[in-house]
Amino acid sequence: AEGAAIPDHEFSFEGIFGTFDRAAAQRGLQVYNQVCASCHSLKYVAFRTLGDLGYEPEQVEALAAQYQVTDGPNDQGEMYQREAKASDAFPSPFPNDAAARAANGGALPPDLSVITQARPNGPDYLHALLTGYEEAPADADLPPGQYWNTAFPGHQIAMPPPLSEGIVEYQDGTEATVSQMAHDVTVFLHWAAEPHMEARKRGGIGVVLFLLIFTGMLYAVKRKVWRDLH
Ligand code: HEM
Repeated sequence: AEGAAIPDHEFSFEGIFGTFDRAAAQRGLQVYNQVCASCHSLKYVAFRTLGDLGYEPEQVEALAAQYQVTDGPNDQGEMYQREAKASDAFPSPFPNDAAARAANGGALPPDLSVITQARPNGPDYLHALLTGYEEAPADADLPPGQYWNTAFPGHQIAMPPPLSEGIVEYQDGTEATVSQMAHDVTVFLHWAAEPHMEARKRGGIGVVLFLLIFTGMLYAVKRKVWRDLH
């Protein structure tokens, strides 16, 4: 498909010292819960990992309990629905891919667990995608159930514009503009895709510091050992 220009968007997790903005990620979780979860799953992200974003165990339980998961078979050999627990992962809103396609005009809403890693330039792309809906050009001949998106390869996407001004009411009072919600849900989904990013970067900084000190030490030892051999 034809590529599209993806504008650069600024995130706090960029760079070697970058960290996740926890407040943005929490708002992003709210956007995910109230908007994206009606079509997308996040099946590799367990609710218990939300503790990492600053939630207390009771809050994690309450966040999980908003979802229903399929469990079983029980003693009668039947599958059943129950409230999700901290140990469950964000479920799919559909029983299977065929049902998901049937509800979305034939298109499959992908699982979002690693979406920011699965697309080139993932975070910038996701922000651009969510803010990229436009009126189709007159010569576009858009088929029914397709929307015009400047970021999506080929520009025709089966996902209806998910965000509109004020579609969520942020608990922390932040104004819910489309760009703000796109930013926040991207931070949340990037944390979901790479929850150990901060530890990985800290590790890298530690290694570089160690190597610097070690190099200095080797040099000092070399000078001492070879001092008398001029
Ligand atoms: C595709 C994100 C809400 C239906 C996608 C893709 C992403 C995404 C990243 C993949 C685009 C690609 O392939 O490069 C989100 C986010 C949402 C959201 C972050 C919430 C803010 C929704 C909702 C629906 C939906 C509410 C259903 C009404 C779809 C469908 C596709 C899709 C059908 C496949 C599109 C195609 O292949 O043409 N979404 N989505 N999404 N989404 Fe969403």
